[in-house]
Amino acid sequence: MKEQETRLVSIENSFSPITEQYRNVRTSIQFMASSASLKILLVTSTEQGEGKTTLASNLAVVMAETKKRVLLIDGDLRRATAGKYFNLFASKGAGLSTLLTNKRSEPGEMIQRTQVKNLDFLPAGPIPPNPSELLESQRLNEIFTLLEEQYDFIIVDSPPLLIVTDAQIFASKVDGVVLVVRENRTRRNSLLKCKTVLERSNARLIGVVYNAAKSAKDGNYKYYKY
Ligand SMILES: Nc1ncnc2c1ncn2[C@@H]1O[C@H](COP(=O)(O)OP(=O)(O)OP(=O)(O)O)[C@@H](O)[C@H]1O
Ligand SMILES: [Mg+2]
Repeated sequence: MKEQETRLVSIENSFSPITEQYRNVRTSIQFMASSASLKILLVTSTEQGEGKTTLASNLAVVMAETKKRVLLIDGDLRRATAGKYFNLFASKGAGLSTLLTNKRSEPGEMIQRTQVKNLDFLPAGPIPPNPSELLESQRLNEIFTLLEEQYDFIIVDSPPLLIVTDAQIFASKVDGVVLVVRENRTRRNSLLKCKTVLERSNARLIGVVYNAAKSAKDGNYKYYKY
């Protein structure tokens, strides 16, 4: 059912064991954040469909539960999907790509409130012709600096690391990277390649989330500190 597909377990069922697993991931991240600057987090994975957007969105919801001001950024400029979980998909059109292209635009104009208290959302915006170039520009650093002042935690959803360079660029500009590994899907070789790519971009891999998705309804998460 389409409607169900766009629901987030952490919003629908705060007491479910799956939501509890997201809270475990949150605790690990908060623990690390207490000793090192860890404000902007990138969620990525080797290839498509491994659960990046699902993790980024649920993590943003449980982070916001702790009364922190949280911003979820849809950094998948090519195939934006995070907004559908918050019913914000097509509400305005403008987003991160607009901010990157138009130097005079302000994040506040694009950021939307979600139905979750303390959680805001920055959509990806219209698909630009040159996503990687836009992300490479100094403008993204400026945007991050502005947003860091307004939020306690910023979670960036991204495209797969090995398909396009976008996630690699993000990885070099955020404080930490969380890698999603999906059972029976993520290949060992791809994981090793990811490690090399992240090292090359001076990224800080802070953890791996093992997404043992069995069916569309249940899932199982484990967090491994890197
Ligand atoms: N733990 C899980 N249990 C069950 N289904 C899951 C789980 N994680 C993800 N899924 C499902 O797998 C599909 C792909 O997930 P998602 O969109 O989060 O992946 P993605 O890595 O963001 O994909 P893309 O690379 O296309 O952006 C979705 O239909 C999602 O509902
Ligand atoms: Mg995605």
